[in-house]
Amino acid sequence: MRISVTGMGYLGAVHAASMASLGHEVVGVDVDAQKVDALALGKAPFFEPGLDELLAGVVASGALEVTTEPSAVAGCQVHFVCVGTPQASASGAADLRFVDAAMAALVDHLGPDDLVVGKSTVPVGTAARLATYLAAAHPAATLAWNPEFLREGFAVEDTLRPDRIVYGVPDGEAGERATALLDAVYAQALDDGAPRIVTDYPTAELVKVAANSFLATKISFINAMAELCEVAGGDVTQLADAIGYDPRIGRRFLNSGLGFGGGCLPKDIRAFMARADELGAGDAVAFLGEVDRVNGRRRARMVDLATEVLGGSVVGARITVLGAAFKPDSDDVRDSPALDVAARLRALGARVTVCDPQAVANARTKQPDLHYEVDVETALTGADAVLLLTEWRQFRQLDPVRAGELVAHRTVLDGRNALDRDAWTAAGWAYRALGRR
Ligand code: UGA
Repeated sequence: MRISVTGMGYLGAVHAASMASLGHEVVGVDVDAQKVDALALGKAPFFEPGLDELLAGVVASGALEVTTEPSAVAGCQVHFVCVGTPQASASGAADLRFVDAAMAALVDHLGPDDLVVGKSTVPVGTAARLATYLAAAHPAATLAWNPEFLREGFAVEDTLRPDRIVYGVPDGEAGERATALLDAVYAQALDDGAPRIVTDYPTAELVKVAANSFLATKISFINAMAELCEVAGGDVTQLADAIGYDPRIGRRFLNSGLGFGGGCLPKDIRAFMARADELGAGDAVAFLGEVDRVNGRRRARMVDLATEVLGGSVVGARITVLGAAFKPDSDDVRDSPALDVAARLRALGARVTVCDPQAVANARTKQPDLHYEVDVETALTGADAVLLLTEWRQFRQLDPVRAGELVAHRTVLDGRNALDRDAWTAAGWAYRALGRR
């Protein structure tokens, strides 16, 4: 099929490359010329495992073309909208200006009965509004909403082998046509057995925010238990293991520590609360405010713990922060807990060095006053305290004996409960973690 994808960010670039790798002819469009130039050369404009390899193949074969030219979408049957919906303001509501702009750019170049497919995470009610807008320009065109569940760091795998596919479509013939076209786009995943749920617009929109809200709640739940463990003298990692064996609960997403960040979970729960308020149902998701507050407290707690282990003040202390990305295997620093803690410690007077294998360039743009180091041994040299805040594999696998030779003081704070406590303690380190004795 001929497919267009508008928005070449973390979602759109992976979607476009993946669809091209499945045999579709794909046109990717973005307003950012720098991004487009990189993609046109087969290079990902951000770090995502496996994406460079995928891109190189589909760009070389001509299956994927990337451009800033909106008219390039003409002739495609299916048009995906993959632009961002960042947090708008202190209210927490989603900023829909990029979605609206993408729709406006598309309508001028659509064929009469094309299918437009929204993938961006939007407040419930957006699809119905956009469907009316589309119908005014092209009465025979159809809008579908097809939320995306990919995780950064696993984006290619999640796109090629999704654990479920959801279509929000209009009633009647238009909905049947949209379903048939989307089935053709996702033929491979459906053949592989991916479950498919065909529903209405509001359900499709809500599925996405409900899923992210559930995940955020699960993380804040275990972090709330960590707070209890800290005051009661318990161990949250053992608690998580023990409750996680119950298959109704499950161990995944019960990793306690510094909490969630990134471009999705934090802003999605806030946008959900703002939208629920507008709909007069704010009480139904008021608990997400508590989820957000528990999450925020982990960052403050980590700063307090660092202050405590450094004798009551961080002023002048050399602190090495391992991790700047919001999670491992990503260079994304949007609402990164690690970078936030590093900036807070610096603001309190610490001499902070931040080390990350991929996210230093993005982190420097956001927090230019921090000191950065890509090489972990250089970053550790002379440290008074080491804070593991993003659990990259190379940090988890650090040799505590070798690391101990480099630092000034063997004090480590494990903000992700990811280090082998016994090994670090045996190597002479004072080991502290959130939610553990
Ligand atoms: C999240 C969802 O997991 C995806 O399903 C969704 O498609 C995506 O948002 C989106 O809306 O686009 P992502 O933001 O890539 O994906 O990251 P996650 O793997 O969900 O991690 C989010 C944050 O939670 C990270 O900061 C991570 O360190 C933290 N986390 C995760 C924990 O603190 N504990 C855990 O047990 C798991």
